[in-house]
Amino acid sequence: MSFQKVLKLSTSAEIPEIGLGTWMSKPHEVENAVEIAVRNGYRHLDLAMIYENQDEVGRALKKVIPSVVKREDLFITSKLWNHSHQPDQVEKELDETLKLLGLDYVDLYLVHWPVAFVPGRGFYPSDDGHQAVLDLETSLVDTWKAMIKLPATGKVRAVGVSNFTMDYIKGIVAATGVKPVVNQVEAHPLLPQLELLEFCRTSGIHITAYSPLGNNLKGKPKLTEHPAVKEVAQKLGATEAQVLVAWGAHTGFSVIPKSVQEDRIISNFKQVELSKEDYEKISAIGHNNHTRFNIPYGYTPMWDISLFDEPEEKNAKYKVKVQ
Ligand SMILES: NC(=O)c1ccc[n+]([C@@H]2O[C@H](COP(=O)([O-])OP(=O)(O)OC[C@H]3O[C@@H](n4cnc5c(N)ncnc54)[C@H](OP(=O)(O)O)[C@@H]3O)[C@@H](O)[C@H]2O)c1
Repeated sequence: MSFQKVLKLSTSAEIPEIGLGTWMSKPHEVENAVEIAVRNGYRHLDLAMIYENQDEVGRALKKVIPSVVKREDLFITSKLWNHSHQPDQVEKELDETLKLLGLDYVDLYLVHWPVAFVPGRGFYPSDDGHQAVLDLETSLVDTWKAMIKLPATGKVRAVGVSNFTMDYIKGIVAATGVKPVVNQVEAHPLLPQLELLEFCRTSGIHITAYSPLGNNLKGKPKLTEHPAVKEVAQKLGATEAQVLVAWGAHTGFSVIPKSVQEDRIISNFKQVELSKEDYEKISAIGHNNHTRFNIPYGYTPMWDISLFDEPEEKNAKYKVKVQ
């Protein structure tokens, strides 16, 4: 078993550099995955209400706390879903998450996406089976004001955001004076997020990189099969996924690869170091080749809101309401 490097957050807490992602794990897979991960040294778990599997994660946690690990030695992140952005819904959804997990607190609680849905109608409300029903009244600042009250309840150790651009972060900080501790965003060699990283670094905001392997599911070229990644992996006697995780760690992110397969869960966690030359070789994959895998377009119902100003979003009807 190997133990991991940790990175310091602005709260002085430490976030383990590698964590286990849990999105798109099929029913009954994630309980096993979390148990295997913790037994093999993972101390950082990335969860969310929308993954609809926190009850399973809770079952796994019961098996490993305290026999394998003390609660205080785990770093558990969860996320507020879009339909609970309204200030009176925020703590309610957190309570539901804690109940599903069987925990008293999470280490980090994030606003999952910078978009509010109408509450009380399921995860992806839709009037016509196509467009999500957006709540255009609740702003990011409204939600952030409710989020920053949570640490005082003892139910979260820190609060942050996810999928936030620099402008959204500037907007919530200008209105409240409170910075998110973490911004969790998609980041890998095809989307290195260097400008956002520089902004967050100078603001004391840590970045966690999600989809570090390029997600592998959206019918796009697989990062794990990219020739440069294969070449470096071969040279180091490592797996392609280890090279991609190492690329994220070298960049300065904490990294949360998802797997439900025991051999991959174990090997993804074994850190390899990249030389400057190998790091640059992997980084070159993304030069002039920007690819964002996670845009909520093509999902049903569509969100119809421009989140990142990506070309795919040019026909979106709405812009995010920051204030
Ligand atoms: N904040 C957000 O909006 C957001 C969005 C997306 C993701 N996330 C978080 O980030 C985590 C990771 O992102 P992700 O799940 O999108 O994608 P990812 O971790 O980049 O890739 C996961 C895919 O790679 C496969 N895989 C895992 N290890 C592998 C290996 N060693 N070799 C080859 N393939 C491998 C997995 O399949 P197997 O499971 O079969 O191994 C799965 O298909 C999520 O699970 C979630 O916790 C957050």
